[in-house]
Amino acid sequence: MQIEYRIGDCRELLKEIPDASVRLVVTSPPYNIGKPYGNYKDKIPLDKWKELISDVTREVCRILTPDGSFFLNLSPVPLGADKEIIPLPFYGYEIFRENGLHLRNMITWTFNNMQNCTNRLSGRYENILWGVKDIKNYVFHLDDVRIPYITKNDKRLEGGTGRNPTDVWYFDRVNNMTKKKLDLTHPTIYPLPMIVRILKMSSDPGDTILDPFAGSGTSLVAAKILDRNAIGIEIDAQYQKEAERRLSSEGNIPASVFDECRSEQEKKDDFLRAISELS
Ligand SMILES: C[S@@+](CC[C@H](N)C(=O)[O-])C[C@H]1O[C@@H](n2cnc3c(N)ncnc32)[C@H](O)[C@@H]1O
Repeated sequence: MQIEYRIGDCRELLKEIPDASVRLVVTSPPYNIGKPYGNYKDKIPLDKWKELISDVTREVCRILTPDGSFFLNLSPVPLGADKEIIPLPFYGYEIFRENGLHLRNMITWTFNNMQNCTNRLSGRYENILWGVKDIKNYVFHLDDVRIPYITKNDKRLEGGTGRNPTDVWYFDRVNNMTKKKLDLTHPTIYPLPMIVRILKMSSDPGDTILDPFAGSGTSLVAAKILDRNAIGIEIDAQYQKEAERRLSSEGNIPASVFDECRSEQEKKDDFLRAISELS
């Protein structure tokens, strides 16, 4: 297994990756809302932001295998002095189409732990656009991500393995307690169990996965847990140590901790226990 964290602008470094060599790309780019990332200034004209996503998507399409998938995490965001809501997933969809990607699902990732608003409804979701290069041939391991049936005595349980997790996913955002326990400083960290689900669903052990906006390295940690090779690209060198530390701690959590066909409470307890046992 090979896991690499490369420092630089992904628009440049993606060019070094061979054609059709990556099975799955999963990423959460900057949302242009002024997050304190360090080197990268997360407030640029909207057109420049679209250009960034467009450039990256073009390269992603080149390096993906013909049956590969691109999972792009985007959110409605408040922009400008009036904090008008701009639905970034709409731009993401346009960019997918311009690059010949077919939308397989627009997953809604919902969570509770987020700030409350007083002049509009509080935002409680982001979208994950799942794009495939070939709508007739792509990797989808439904059986690896099935969740328990809603009704315990559901007849389909006989010999059944659970139900489709649907396109609405609940995953807690990484809270301050977990950040403190793991000594994490990155401002926008993906929930690890969510990325584990995506990798299980759309890649195989031994595949190479890529995150062009790698941050604290969550996608690489998920790859290590599931025996995938991974490349992460990050413009800010300050997060490399954090990602490496995560790989040698969280990267050793057994894959069984993320078994999906158990109650939400059981999964949550198991994950928190695994984290609390890390040295
Ligand atoms: C939303 S964060 C990703 C967080 C990551 N998913 C995690 O779990 O830690 C976006 C990251 O993209 C980085 N970034 C911004 N522009 C970049 C570029 N052109 N190339 C590579 N990384 C970039 C930022 O520094 C930031 O760390």
